[in-house]
Amino acid sequence: MAQVTLQSVKKTYPNGFQAVKDFNLDIKDGEFVVFVGPSGCGKSTTLRMIAGLEDVSSGTISIGGRVVNDVHPKDRDIAMVFQSYALYPHMSVYKNMAFALKLRGVPKAEIDKRVNEAARILGLAELLDRKPKQLSGGQRQRVAVGRAIVREPKAFLFDEPLSNLDAKLRVTTRGELKSLHQRLKTTTIYVTHDQEEAMTLGDRIVVMSNGLIQQCDTPLQVYRHPVNRFVAAFVGTPPMNFLEGTLERGGNGLEFVEGSNDPSGRAYRLPVPASRAARVEGFVGKPIVLGLRPQMLTNTPGQNEASTMTMSVKVVEPLGDQMDVACATPKHGHVVARLHAQDGVRAGQPITLKVDMDAAHFFEPGEFGRNLVL
Ligand SMILES: Nc1ncnc2c1ncn2[C@@H]1O[C@H](COP(=O)(O)OP(=O)(O)O)[C@@H](O)[C@H]1O
Ligand SMILES: [Mg+2]
Repeated sequence: MAQVTLQSVKKTYPNGFQAVKDFNLDIKDGEFVVFVGPSGCGKSTTLRMIAGLEDVSSGTISIGGRVVNDVHPKDRDIAMVFQSYALYPHMSVYKNMAFALKLRGVPKAEIDKRVNEAARILGLAELLDRKPKQLSGGQRQRVAVGRAIVREPKAFLFDEPLSNLDAKLRVTTRGELKSLHQRLKTTTIYVTHDQEEAMTLGDRIVVMSNGLIQQCDTPLQVYRHPVNRFVAAFVGTPPMNFLEGTLERGGNGLEFVEGSNDPSGRAYRLPVPASRAARVEGFVGKPIVLGLRPQMLTNTPGQNEASTMTMSVKVVEPLGDQMDVACATPKHGHVVARLHAQDGVRAGQPITLKVDMDAAHFFEPGEFGRNLVL
């Protein structure tokens, strides 16, 4: 096992494109870290540099305290699992797992021990004689993981290993990977574009965009305290709502003014609670963005008239015990509330929702606008 450290790592491809701009990260021994971000943000490039499959343009990468910039991939003592499991089709499950060890000249008895142990951990013991085409997608992916385990590497690198599996299998397999990590405690770096997968797996998640780390922290910290609008928008289901408006000083203190009127002709004005006021005061008279998670809108009006919004319902999506209700103001056409399931909420009707302003976020304008209430 080993710690993995990246210092000022940059990658410029031969065509001049800068895929990774300045990557700094200390991954602790035994930690499970997930790189997450939209397609093209530089996740695979970073992982491939750690694996040695891609040169580093500048900066240093160390594994277990040793700088590996010039170390050949096979001498880095790490194992990588890709989206396409690339098993050898003509070899049995056993041989697929044993192959790399055989190449390295590991004694036969040791190979046998490691393959059988990996097969037991992964529930493949009964399948060792099968060929890959006789396996389901999930089983093939487990063989690919098994091939990595038997090498007893210092670190595992996973690049979207579950993308080829159907939704249900993805959820079960990610649970297996997590419990596998809890057993083996091998340092793991895992790449995915799926924020839910990142949240469920990572000890820490690294949210990336355009070759830069936007935020790196535990899943709960990132969810509760996103540093900017990009992270806030990327993490959480359904995504956070953003209302662009202005901050004004009213008779009862600061108010967020959305800029349009509800069906009864009243302007949407939401009081900024004391817990938030000091942080946003500098924005009085200026544009500001209110960030509301769908869970911050609830269907229990009447408790505090001031913090409610009456909007028209566009679409209702039942989810069993809960439902997502997409609403609209004249200015913002898509404001989602996640409510407890109930009858009587219908498209085309108005709905009055209470807004939990004590939990609200405020951002500077812009896609990467800073979170003002961290
Ligand atoms: N060999 C290459 N030459 C030039 N650009 C590349 C090369 N490989 C990847 N890129 C670009 O670098 C960016 C990051 O790619 P990648 O690391 O694969 O992103 P991700 O894994 O986050 O989807 C993308 O814009 C991609 O098009
Ligand atoms: Mg990728």
